[in-house]
Amino acid sequence: MKNIVLIGFMGTGKTTVGKRLAGRLGRQFVDTDLEIERVTGKTIPQIFAQDGEVRFRSEERLVIQKLSRREGLVIATGGGVVLDPENVADLKRNGVLICLAADPEIIYQRVKGKKHRPLLNKKGKLREQIKTLLAARAPFYAVADFTIDTGNISSGEVANKIINYLDSLRTNGEL
Ligand code: S3P
Repeated sequence: MKNIVLIGFMGTGKTTVGKRLAGRLGRQFVDTDLEIERVTGKTIPQIFAQDGEVRFRSEERLVIQKLSRREGLVIATGGGVVLDPENVADLKRNGVLICLAADPEIIYQRVKGKKHRPLLNKKGKLREQIKTLLAARAPFYAVADFTIDTGNISSGEVANKIINYLDSLRTNGEL
């Protein structure tokens, strides 16, 4: 059974939707950031501050290698997972990649006031920071098999759309 892998920018709802989807499908849910925190014994902000982003990306790479060898999971990934083509190749090998998307303003409203994302740290310039990073990341999120705008719908509705998409793949014999 293939994994269902949620990719997409910070604040697009990967963790919330992933938990819901896993519950609906009776699958195990795994969040790559939580997995990194478990393995390292540090929080994501601590890893960035003490060891740097390069170290975070190598921990992330190890977690992806490990998880992509498993089957039947719902995996919520960190927003930067797709920057490494080897992560994408591993996840695609036995997974369906679903991208959750949202407009910059919606992302801004969702992430402002939250402190656990080291890459969104420009207090007065958070809107610009989101826009710039989102534009730079857009080509990487285009690797998805299916993309859903989560801007104006509930996490339950996003989960429904994913389930409908998976059903259509099954009907076409692609899953
Ligand atoms: C990151 C996204 C974060 C986390 C880390 C880096 C990114 O995950 O992995 O702070 O590079 O976009 P979320 O997308 O779950 O916030």
